[in-house]
Amino acid sequence: MAAKIDKISDLPGVGPAAEEKLIAGGFASLESIAVASPAELASTAGFGEASARKIIQAARDAMNIGFETAKDSLAKREKMIRITTGTKSIDDLLGGGIESQSITEVYGKYGSGKTQWCFQACVTVQLPKDKGGAAGKVIYIDSENSFRPERVVAIAKRYGLDPDKVLQNVMVGRAYTADHQMLLTDKAKEEMEKDHSIKLLIVDSLTSHFRAEFTGRGQLADRQQKLNRYMYTLMKLAETKNCAILVTNQVMDRPDVLFGDPTAPIGGNIVGHASKTRLYLRKGKGDLHVAKLVDSPYLPDGEAIYKVTNDGLVDE
Ligand SMILES: Nc1ncnc2c1ncn2[C@@H]1O[C@H](COP(=O)(O)OP(=O)(O)OP(=O)(O)O)[C@@H](O)[C@H]1O
Ligand SMILES: [Mg+2]
Repeated sequence: MAAKIDKISDLPGVGPAAEEKLIAGGFASLESIAVASPAELASTAGFGEASARKIIQAARDAMNIGFETAKDSLAKREKMIRITTGTKSIDDLLGGGIESQSITEVYGKYGSGKTQWCFQACVTVQLPKDKGGAAGKVIYIDSENSFRPERVVAIAKRYGLDPDKVLQNVMVGRAYTADHQMLLTDKAKEEMEKDHSIKLLIVDSLTSHFRAEFTGRGQLADRQQKLNRYMYTLMKLAETKNCAILVTNQVMDRPDVLFGDPTAPIGGNIVGHASKTRLYLRKGKGDLHVAKLVDSPYLPDGEAIYKVTNDGLVDE
């Protein structure tokens, strides 16, 4: 039997120099290598295509990519946790709350309340299970420098929680580039392996660095490939660690759309297919906010109306 493969340097033919090149090229985890194409791996680390193929196969074998029985799948779903959003209307829309084992994406224009959702979830994940939480901790990857502990404190008070304790259970990492964001995500995985009470990973925002770093039209394919690897890493993390993953995403204008909504979330199908639950956030009449469920594989489409207040998200 082949030696156990736990890290990149365990892969066949990957020495320290190749490992360094792979990490610098954005292949920082076995997952990302498992879903790479032989050509991109070969050009990143200077392998021949045949060795790249061998390396990818080894990474896939190490990750047990394959089938499971429907019985296993049901047992896994029974372990699923749901985290309340603090409002009945959104919880009902989501079938109970933000669920573990998959990615939940909130997207919308600036000021539509995406970051407020993140602050809210930082607190509600810490609630006891009978109050709609997971009695868990959270890792918060902040790529836009918009994390505000005061907001978490205000929301903690609404639930009668000790703000100091709540803040201690939120580990914040500021991501300066897309690669840094990916490294922090790998770190989050390590933290989850050490501390099983981490039940939520937040990435606010998922796409801003990718968008800023790959600007030209000619770079779109590279950006999408990298984003694809990243989404895969997040999905795998949600599934293997039974944690919830909440990501935010911006919208771009679509000049080609003449009727209906002229905006679309960044990342196209790559992000759309990886996010199992997608919510489009917008402002409604007066101080109301609207969250619309988009393309859910098993929940009916619908909208929830709520307010964003100093206490966080509340029913209207
Ligand atoms: N303390 C507060 N009390 C009441 N409402 C607040 C408070 N803080 C923020 N808000 C509301 O949240 C809105 C900002 O939302 P948020 O920062 O979540 O937007 P966003 O979607 O993350 O935007 P961006 O794309 O710029 O990151 C404000 O316009 C305001 O309506
Ligand atoms: Mg924001």
